[in-house]
Amino acid sequence: MTVSTGGEQGFLYDQVSRHVLGLIEQGTLRPGERAPSLRGLSRQLKVSISTVKQAYGSLEERGVLKVRPQSGFYVSGLPQQAPPVPRRHAVCCKPRKVRFGELFEEIFLLANNPEIVPLGAAVPSPDLLPGKGLLRATRRAAGLHAEAAIDYCFPPGLPALRRQIARRYAEFGVSVSPDEVVITSGATEGLTLALQAVARRGDVIAVESPTYFSVLRLIERMGLLAVEIDTDPETGMDPEALEMALETMDIRAVLTVPNFNNPLGALMPVAHKQRIAQLVAEHGVTLIEDDIYGDLYFEGERPPPIRRFDEAGRVITCSSFSKTLAPGYRVGWVLAGSRVDDVLEWKQATTSATASLPQLGVSEYLRSGEYDRHLRRLRQAFRDQVEHMRLLVARHFPPGTRITQPAGGFVLWVEMPRGNDCLEVFHNALEAGISITPGILFSATRRYRNCIRISCGHASSDEIEAAVEKLGQILSG
Ligand SMILES: Cc1ncc(COP(=O)(O)O)c(C=O)c1O
Repeated sequence: MTVSTGGEQGFLYDQVSRHVLGLIEQGTLRPGERAPSLRGLSRQLKVSISTVKQAYGSLEERGVLKVRPQSGFYVSGLPQQAPPVPRRHAVCCKPRKVRFGELFEEIFLLANNPEIVPLGAAVPSPDLLPGKGLLRATRRAAGLHAEAAIDYCFPPGLPALRRQIARRYAEFGVSVSPDEVVITSGATEGLTLALQAVARRGDVIAVESPTYFSVLRLIERMGLLAVEIDTDPETGMDPEALEMALETMDIRAVLTVPNFNNPLGALMPVAHKQRIAQLVAEHGVTLIEDDIYGDLYFEGERPPPIRRFDEAGRVITCSSFSKTLAPGYRVGWVLAGSRVDDVLEWKQATTSATASLPQLGVSEYLRSGEYDRHLRRLRQAFRDQVEHMRLLVARHFPPGTRITQPAGGFVLWVEMPRGNDCLEVFHNALEAGISITPGILFSATRRYRNCIRISCGHASSDEIEAAVEKLGQILSG
């Protein structure tokens, strides 16, 4: 770049800002990377350090750069002209049966192909997970507990692991007794047991809209009805809409993902969590929360689960290590609260026991102290990947696209310009060797035909960049 050295300071700093923005837009500088040093850029562009400082200050204000103490400026995000976040839609508040069956099968069979660029499934890339460390821990555990490793580990599960999970909650202010921690085969079994413990065929379950499709599938298979509650793309399930539904319908349970939900990535503010805890207590219903993404926050502190505000013992919390450690180990848990006996009975009746060795391995890995170090790296990787994907979508998708800006997790929800149909986009993308998840899966009412979910579970690469460019061509403007 040539910077005119004769201009005024304002003019100069603007040119420096545009130079840095250009580097980000071309992908030369990526989110998470360190921006050139003040001195280096001043020398390179032949401007004063204070001009570069001023340019960096303005980029910081626009959310493009961020200072890390004692380390300099880092690229943090997109410039202001990033696509806006999706609009919140009022949903029709009527309980209904969920009917998806074959649609799920088709989509998952097709998308489960390793040859395909993986923007579909919300699965962390194995490269980001501590495979070797976990394997070492599992080997150690198998050596130390050779008999336990091959024996049944009956519910509620491995005592040491249940204590470790309870301790982790204590670290962010949630008091949990190990006695109410039931180890499950992933969060999916936790959600199943929670629903089995509280609901019977024909009961109505309030869910977010859009919501995680496996929840809808469970509701379908269990013969339950779903009522979708208005959900804000940034703040999650709306307490007022929930209140209205609780007042006008016979709802058995509310199911929500309060921290970085799937697919919106919404983070429910503490005041809403408190209000929802209060509402379920007032109406005598159970709240089932899925906190599987809670540890994957990008900034600040670990957001609390709703359980923290549950004074009436109405909340069941489900989670797992699937998004942070090893989805294949299938180690999850339920904080069953006052429902612990029901949950245990269902667990005993349906799966008898959770596999022993994965529990021993995860417990040993937690004991080693490596988990928190790994989580710090993982959060940073997801933050960078999500920001980079937003940048790519901003660059390659047609005008009229809207995209979420989550503060945690690793999925993005994209509202496509009018005229695009998610199933058509899904099929055309697959033909081009790319998987995405069609929006239609995230609602019992088959709304969100104009939306897709993009997973950022894999590190940015040329292949992923080319795939997003191709998706942009598939979408019509
Ligand atoms: C919100 C949510 N809950 C649960 C799961 C599944 O968790 P697990 O693999 O532990 O059963 C997922 C995975 O995509 C999810 O997004």
